[in-house]
Amino acid sequence: MKGSSSHRTLALTIIAVACTQAVAAHADQVVKIGHSAPLTGAIAHLGKDSENGARLAVEEINAKGLVIGGQRVTLQLDSQDDAGDPRAATQAAQKLVDDKIVGVVGHLNSGTSIPASRIYRDAGIVQISQAATNPAYTQQGFKTTYRVVATDAQQGPALATYAAQSLHVKTVAIVDDATAYGQGLANEFEKTAKSLGIRVVSHDATNDKAIDFRAIVTRIKGENPDAIMYGGMDATGGPFAKQARQLGVRARVLAGDGVCSGDLPNLAGTAADNVVCSEAGMALDRMPGGTAFALRYQNRFHQPLQVYAPFAYDAVFIIVDAMQRAQSTDPAKTLAAMPATHYRGVIGETSFDAKGDLQHGVISLYTYKDGKKQLLDVVKL
Ligand code: ALA
Repeated sequence: MKGSSSHRTLALTIIAVACTQAVAAHADQVVKIGHSAPLTGAIAHLGKDSENGARLAVEEINAKGLVIGGQRVTLQLDSQDDAGDPRAATQAAQKLVDDKIVGVVGHLNSGTSIPASRIYRDAGIVQISQAATNPAYTQQGFKTTYRVVATDAQQGPALATYAAQSLHVKTVAIVDDATAYGQGLANEFEKTAKSLGIRVVSHDATNDKAIDFRAIVTRIKGENPDAIMYGGMDATGGPFAKQARQLGVRARVLAGDGVCSGDLPNLAGTAADNVVCSEAGMALDRMPGGTAFALRYQNRFHQPLQVYAPFAYDAVFIIVDAMQRAQSTDPAKTLAAMPATHYRGVIGETSFDAKGDLQHGVISLYTYKDGKKQLLDVVKL
């Protein structure tokens, strides 16, 4: 009798353990949110900033507790380095798909977001780019591509209009880094600049690894334009502005969101004060939750934010919002809920058009003073 009773106890214990495990599994389903950006290389500081934004969202959602379709869910951030490289980006995308993410916040560059988009399309996984501004990204007819920034078809004209109307620029030299972003933005800027009567004295191409711009800058100095428009990221745009100043060029340097980072003064030195740059979204301190977000970010990561963190942060919430409306963590059901998104977050109100672009884009214009970003103007689109 003794033996059988201890057997029974053991059996009950096993059943109890199994039940506990089943309850635990039921109580805490882990759902992976993908993120991809350059975490190595010259613009790793921008990718890290984006990753921090996504991480903060995941941590806050988990701390509050998430229930989807009656099931408790714990989010896990699955962040992959794409090194800002188109080929590495497709590998990062494949890794995320293999990891069975529910959706991805990525990628940061247009030159990576566009090739990676095909992989998410094939897998039926929602992709929300936190930063890619080239119009082509959402013009491929994919149901999976979204972004939470305005496009360069909006940013280029806004920058050119500001140059013509507020800076009274009459002549401009254009330099781009020959990437999907830099070249695309420069071309959009050029079209509008010309239509506004600005004379384009030259348009040169460099590349996104360049460090020495003295030859181009020396030639442009001879052209004596009122402004130079640089299409590219801050890792090249900063040194470009710095070398232009060192060579005695007085023209303003105009640039887009890729240059408009918190780190620009470190990269350009005092020449940052000569830069006028745009962001493809609302200025941080005018975002509904911008100031509070910056504070939480600073407290969590002990560094000031660069550019894209609030956009990556909201993108995570938008995927979660779609899961909640779908009452499911299934990628296909989450994707199906995306077109009906009306999400009010840190960056403002997000709803999408049929292509996955923002319904209400905004462009903000900045300069720098004594190493700090200063808002010049906000253009609602
Ligand atoms: N807006 C930049 C791009 O599209 C980051 O590449």
